[in-house]
Parts: sequence; structure tokens; C-alpha cells
Amino acid sequence: MIPSAENLQLCAEAILRGELVVVPTETVYGLAANALDPNAVERIYEVKRRPSWNPLIVHVNGIDMASTVGDVDQDAFLKLARAFWPGPLSIVVRSRGVVAERVTSGGKTVALRHPRHPVLCDLIERCGVPLAAPSANIFTRLSPTRAADVDPEILSQVFGVLDGGDCEIGIESTVVDLTSWIPNVLRLGDISLEDIRECLGVTPTFSSPESTTPSPGTHPVHYAPKGEVRLVTPEEAKQLLNIAPSRSDVIEYQGQDPKSYAKGLYSRLAEMDRLNLNPIYIVRPPDMAEWSAVWDRLRRASRAKTSDEP
Ligand code: TXA
Ligand code: MG
Repeated sequence: MIPSAENLQLCAEAILRGELVVVPTETVYGLAANALDPNAVERIYEVKRRPSWNPLIVHVNGIDMASTVGDVDQDAFLKLARAFWPGPLSIVVRSRGVVAERVTSGGKTVALRHPRHPVLCDLIERCGVPLAAPSANIFTRLSPTRAADVDPEILSQVFGVLDGGDCEIGIESTVVDLTSWIPNVLRLGDISLEDIRECLGVTPTFSSPESTTPSPGTHPVHYAPKGEVRLVTPEEAKQLLNIAPSRSDVIEYQGQDPKSYAKGLYSRLAEMDRLNLNPIYIVRPPDMAEWSAVWDRLRRASRAKTSDEP
């Protein structure tokens, strides 16, 4: 659906009736529902085939709406929200218990994010309620960064897809937990550990919970195309390309900066999936701090099994 005022209104009404809508964000497309409606939230888990122990991110239109959902009355939260919202930072705080229980997987904390895509901001405004929205992929698969990449299995179960164009960032938001005694980053994204350190004056820890409670985005196998991903050195890639110079199964590293590399990564992999390429070769990008969010995604993708099972 083109994001006209009329379509946005139809989508807002659908969400308030308990339906799901695929929405653009600046990171990846999301599968959105009214966070206050337990049945609608339940459907997110069904449609994504997502295990129930994984909490969802709640999307708000600013600090005021955030304060109705979680305990945001703390210095660190306000500093981060003022510095990075609207934007790709999800902040975990104590929940006020107003969102459907499944949003927080029955836990005492909630992840909040004010996205900066104008289409989603307009939709939240029209709905007047916070929207729970995980990435719009089947569990462990690639997150879509273009409307055209949304899985048909998801399409058949939602009211519609609001097409907001190509996602500006292309990988999921950074998730930072403020309920531990030192801010702890659970997932790396466009906002780096260094960005958070500069803002708070404290170096956050980085520990993803995958060893104890595997969750989407932190699950060891995630963001994976169907084909097996093999990370190769530039020399190995050269050999492959010597055999066949125009191979579509190799993602080369062409000196891009990490942000532009991240932006194109999932759409490139989605294209390779459509061509049923297996294996998929990815040339290792530089092993430097600015690349850590990209490396996190590449490692997870390359750990995937070749099986079709999520
Ligand atoms: O960029 C994004 O964050 C996208 C777009 C749609 O906003 N959303 C997204 O959601 O990636 P999802 O559900 O695929 O990933 C949510 C991440 C997971 O790693 C989950 O474990 C973590 O956030 N999370 C959510 N609520 C949490 C909570 N209360 N405590 C700890 N982690 C939480
Ligand atoms: Mg996800």
C-alpha cells in the first residue's frame, strides 16, 4: 500500500480492530500490532512463528507515550532518548504493566523505541496507542528492508504492508538495558557502544543473552538466508571470481563504510534467496570496531543451518 493519508487511516483503524500491519521503520520493516491488545499481540507470535519467551519492542511517538508504558523517569533514559530518539535505539526499562503481558513475555521490563520513519510516526499518531513491532520476518530468517522482501507467508496474514521505501539503516536497532546496574547493550546496531558511552559518560557492558535465554536478534542463528553463508577472505573470493567472473553468489567488499554496507546487506541476501543460491559467499569486511554490528549479523547468518526449518 502506498502510504497515503487514506491508507494510513485504514491501517490505523485495522490496528485498533486488532489486525496486524507491516510497517516501514528506519532500521527494518516491522510487524505491528496494538501493544495494549493481548489477542493482537498473540497473533504476532503466531505469524512470525516466534517462540513465546521472546519479548517485543514497543514503538512510541516520544517520551510522553513512553512514560505511559515504562518507568522512564531516570537520568540515563532521558539522556539517551533526547540524544538518539527518534532513531534506532531501543531502551529497556521497568514496565508499568499496561502493555499486553505477551509483549514483555510476562517479564518486568519493556523495550521502548521512538522510530524515525515518518510513515510509522504518522501511523502511531493516528492509532494513539503504542505499537508492538518485531522485525517482519519469520523467526530466524532475514529481516526485510524493502516492502518487496516481506515473506508471502506473512503477507497472507496481515491487513497490509505500508511501503515506505528502502530502510535507511538496514539492520535492527541497538538494544540497551537500563535495568542492570551498568547499562548493558543486548544487541548491536547503528548506535554504537561508543555513542552510548559518550552520551552517558559510562562505558556500557555488552552482553547478549544468547547463552541463557536465546531471543530473536540475539539467537545465535538469525538473520539468515536460506542458502548456507560462507565467510571468505578477499583472496578466496578472487579465486572464485577467477573461475567465473560475474558470479551472483558472492558478496564482495568494495571499500564501503559500515553504514552503507549494512544498508544494502539484507536486501542483497534476500535477492540471493530468491535465486535459491547455495552456498552464498561473503567477503569478510574489515575486523574493526565500527564494523561490529555488521559482523554480529554476518556471524549469525553464517552459523545458520541450510535446513528450511526456522
Ligand atoms: O530495529 C528494530 O528494533 C526492529 C524494528 C521493527 O523496530 N525491531 C526488532 O524487533 O528488531 P525484534 O523483536 O525482532 O527484536 C527485539 C529485540 C530482541 O533481541 C529482544 O530480545 C529484545 O529486543 N527485547 C525486547 N524486549 C526486551 C526486554 N524487555 N528485555 C530485553 N530484551 C528485550
Ligand atoms: Mg527480529
